[in-house]
Formats: sequence, C-alpha cells, structure tokens
Amino acid sequence: MSIHKEVKKVTTHVLQRMKDEGEKISMLTGYDFSMAKIIDSAGIDVILVGDSASNVMAGHETTLPITLDQMIYHASSVVRAVERSLVVVDMPFGSYQGNSLEALSSAIRIMKESGGHAIKMEGGEEIIESINRILTAGIPVMGHLGLTPQSIYKFGTYVVRAKEGEEAERLISDAKLLEEAGCFAIVLEKIPAALAEKVAKEVRIPIIGIGAGGGVDGQVLVVHDMLGINNEFNPRFLRKYHNLYKEMHNSFEQYIDDVKSGDFPNEGEQY
Ligand code: KIV
Repeated sequence: MSIHKEVKKVTTHVLQRMKDEGEKISMLTGYDFSMAKIIDSAGIDVILVGDSASNVMAGHETTLPITLDQMIYHASSVVRAVERSLVVVDMPFGSYQGNSLEALSSAIRIMKESGGHAIKMEGGEEIIESINRILTAGIPVMGHLGLTPQSIYKFGTYVVRAKEGEEAERLISDAKLLEEAGCFAIVLEKIPAALAEKVAKEVRIPIIGIGAGGGVDGQVLVVHDMLGINNEFNPRFLRKYHNLYKEMHNSFEQYIDDVKSGDFPNEGEQY
C-alpha cells in the first residue's frame, strides 16, 4: 500500500519516508476554509498557505504587500478545515529579513495563532541565522530557492533562475546548507529540470518543485492556477485541470438571467 493511502495524518517524517521509498509528494496552495476542505478530503499531502494569497486572493501584483496578520488569518482558516494534510505557512516579506529574533517571533506568532504545522521561508545562506533560531525553537522549516518571488524587484523578471554556472552552484550549496541546518524539505521554483534533479539526488530531504521538472520528489501548484480560475496566467509549467473561470462565468451569467427573467426562484424554491 502507498504511504499516501496508509497514513491518517501527514507529518514531516511521513514526507521523508515518501522520499526514501520513492513516493512522490503532492502539494497545493490553499488560503480559505472551503477550498482547503476539498483539497484535504481529496488526499493531498501538503497544503501550503502561500504568500501567493497576496496575488490570487487580494489582487496585488506581487507577494510583497501581504502582512503577517493576513497570513495568520488565511492559515487559521485552512487549519480549521484540515484533517489529514500537513499545513505549511509562508513567512511573508518583511517578517523575517530584519534579524533572527524578529524572524523567530514571526514564526512563533504563525504557529500559536494559526495552528499551522510548519513555516516556509525564501532564501539560503543570507537567512541561515534566522532558520537556525526558528529550528531551535522546534518549529519545522521548509526552504524555498530558485525564483523566490519576494525578491522580484532584485531579479527584475519572473524568468527561469539558476541557468548560469555561478547561480546554479550557489543554489546547490544553499540547498545543502538548508539540509544541514535541519530544514525538512525545500521548494525549488522555476529552475532548469536537470539542476533540480541534481539537487534532489544530492540532498536527503524532499525537494518539491514548481516549474522544476519531474526529477524531484514532489510537485506544488497554486490551486487557482491549476483549476483555471485565473485565466491570465499561462506559464509552460502549469497544467490546468479545469477551466473554472469559464464555468463560473457561465454560471454567474445564467443566475443573472434567471433573476432578471423571474425564473428564479420557482415554486419549489420557496416556502
Ligand atoms: O506562495 C506560494 O504559492 C509559493 C508556491 C509557488 C511555492 O510559494
């Protein structure tokens, strides 16, 4: 039987077992109670309360504006819905870059106030002191390397990262550093598939990819993107499982017509 079918509750140790036994890890983002309930009941391994909530839930152009309070609100809504999945919560921009004490107090707020099971942070060597301090407090940390959207103004564009030798070398050494520090997994975003596969082979902890090819230990997508709710985002790495934008749009049009024509409510839809 697969580990996925066997376990009643996914923990960081279950994810490590999945990697060790060659079972791929499934992860999706989630930001609210109703969606998280459906995702969890479908049997996803990890729900990431991503700071992409800043884009898909709040309509911001980048992930930078979302606050710690807003992340805690989203995360606590998700936690209330979840029975089986591991809930990982993004540390938002500005909540950990200052110093390691500030980082620890932000991580503690997330764990205490949302009930999430782990946190995720973007970066390698430059934030290692904060990662160490948070891990020392017993909070599981997921790393995030490659295209790290909180640094979008440094990168300038959302193009594939680590294509060049020096950036690729740095990414490998950062991944090893995160593993040595004690992170339980790493997200690799939008990097060449061959590099992601090399990292997954060279580190023992699970590597979860988004736009990083199939040679890693698991995959993550933004739930609104894979459901086709957002019809303006069509990168090559995205597989759309639905065109919910179209279906929802049609339903709303139909409802408007029904109300305007008096067809809704009918005899059976009233008291
Ligand atoms: O915020 C987010 O949704 C993420 C994923 C893209 C990995 O960090």
